[in-house]
Amino acid sequence: MTPRIIPVELFDLVVFGATGDLSQRKLLPALFHRDLQGQIPPGSRIIGCSRRAMTNDEFQAFARKAIEDHVPEADRPADVMGRFLERVSYVTADAAQDAGWADLGKVLKPESHRIRVFYLAVGPDLFGPICDRLGAYHLVTPQTRVVIEKPLGKSGASAHALNESIGKVFKEPQIYRIDHYLGKETVQNLLALRFANSLFEPLWNAGHIDHVQITIAETVGLEGRLDFYDGAGALRDMVQNHMLQLLALVAMEPPGHFGPTSVRDEKVKVLNALRRIDTGNVAAHCVTGQYGPGVADGKAVPGYAEELGHASDTETFVALKANIDNWRWKGVPFYLRTGKRLPSRASQIVIQFKPVPHLIFDTKGATVNANKLVIELQPNENIRLMLMTKTPGLDRDGIRLREVPLDIGMDNAFADTRRRIAHERLLLDLIEGRSTLFVRRDEVEAQWRWIDGIRAALLANGIAPKPYAAGSWGPSAAIGLAERDGVSWHD
Ligand code: BG6
Repeated sequence: MTPRIIPVELFDLVVFGATGDLSQRKLLPALFHRDLQGQIPPGSRIIGCSRRAMTNDEFQAFARKAIEDHVPEADRPADVMGRFLERVSYVTADAAQDAGWADLGKVLKPESHRIRVFYLAVGPDLFGPICDRLGAYHLVTPQTRVVIEKPLGKSGASAHALNESIGKVFKEPQIYRIDHYLGKETVQNLLALRFANSLFEPLWNAGHIDHVQITIAETVGLEGRLDFYDGAGALRDMVQNHMLQLLALVAMEPPGHFGPTSVRDEKVKVLNALRRIDTGNVAAHCVTGQYGPGVADGKAVPGYAEELGHASDTETFVALKANIDNWRWKGVPFYLRTGKRLPSRASQIVIQFKPVPHLIFDTKGATVNANKLVIELQPNENIRLMLMTKTPGLDRDGIRLREVPLDIGMDNAFADTRRRIAHERLLLDLIEGRSTLFVRRDEVEAQWRWIDGIRAALLANGIAPKPYAAGSWGPSAAIGLAERDGVSWHD
C-alpha cells in the first residue's frame, strides 16, 4: 500500500533523556513509523540530548538499534532507515550544568522560525532545571512546545510546584502533558461511540445506567521499576492519571466540538464533581492490596516484598467506588479497579444499564439480564453490547431467553489498518499543535485533589494494603466493595 502523505510543518524535535528507556522503547520507534508513512518533512531534525557524551554517529547507531529492537523487520526498509538516521543528531548537555547549552543553541538558532519541540523524557525532578536553562539560553520561541509525561508530581502540592516551574518559561498552551491512554485508538473510539451515534447518548445517564466499571488489569509485576514504583503505588501510578481520564471521558457532557478547550473543559467539570473520599467513608469506598507469591502466566512468581527485598506499605492493587455529584450521574456508582499480577491483562469499561421496568416473560420462568455495554480496550479492541434474544424453539414450556453479544471486533472490522502505538498519534498531534488529547493543568490538579484526599484518609485511618496472591483478582474485600451494592465485577 502506498503511504498516505500528510504534510506536517518542518520541525526540530529535541529529546532530553534521549538515551533513556522511553526514548528507546517508544519515541524513536514512533518517530520512525511516522517517517515510514511520509509524515516527517525533509529537513526536519530529531536532536537527541542528554548528559552522556556521544557523537552523532554513536547516537545514530543507538537509534538504529532502538528501531531494530522495536519495529518489525517488514516495516523497516533500508531506504527509510537511512533517511531517518540522517535526520538524527546529538548534543551533549547536562540539565544541572551550563555545559552543552550554548552548543544546543547554535544547532537550533539557524532554524528559529520552525516548530520547535522539547520532549522531556526525563524524571520530573529535571523538568524545572531544564525549563530554566531553556529560558536562560533563549531557546524558547513563540512556536516552541514542551512535552512532559508522568509522573507529574507525587501529590497535588508537588504537581503544582512542577506546573509553576514550567509555567515560568512556557505559557499553558505551549505545554503538552501526555497521558498515553489518551493516545490509544480505543480510548478515542469511546468518544466516537458516545458522540457519533445517536443510540447511546439519550440513555447515558442515571435514568438508564445502573453503574459503570472501569478495570485496568495487568499480569506484570514490578518489571525492574523498584525505585519508581515503591514511591508511587497503584493509586498514583494508574488511578490519578489513566483511570481518571477514562472516567472523565465516560462521564463528561457532550463537548461543543472535538477541540482542546471544549473537551478539556468538560473533563475538568467531571473531575471537580468527584465526591471526596475522606476518613468517614474511605473504608467503604476504597480497598488497597499488595500481591504476595503466586502464579502469573503459568509460572510461580515471588511476592511484591520479595521482589523489592523488604517489607513495604505500597499498594499494587486498588479498587474504588467513586461518585460524581451532578445531575447526570446522581446515584450511579463508578467502580474502578487496577492492579499488578492479576490473572489476565485486560482493560475494559463496562456500562451496566438498568433492567427493563416490567418483565412480561417472568411467569414462564424466563430470566432477563439487564443490557450491558462492554468496551474492551486491551489486549483486544472490542465493543460488545449484551442483548437478550429468544432461544429458537416452539416454547411449549414458556419462552426462553438468552444473552447474546452484538459484537464489533475492531481487529476484524479494520483488519487492514495497523494499530498505532499511542505515542505515534500524540507526537504528530503535538507537532501540529493539536492539544485536545493532552492533559491541561487544571485537569492534573483536579485529579491530584481527589487522590490526595484518598491517600490522606487511608493514612489517617491506618488502612494498609491487604495481601492477595499473585494471579488472583486482588483481596476479597475488593469483591465485597461491589457486592455490598449487589454488583459483581465483570471478569
Ligand atoms: C504506566 C504505568 O503509566 O502505564 C505502568 O506507570 C503501567 O505501571 C502502564 O504498566 C500501563 O500502560 P499500558 O499501555 O501497557 O496499559
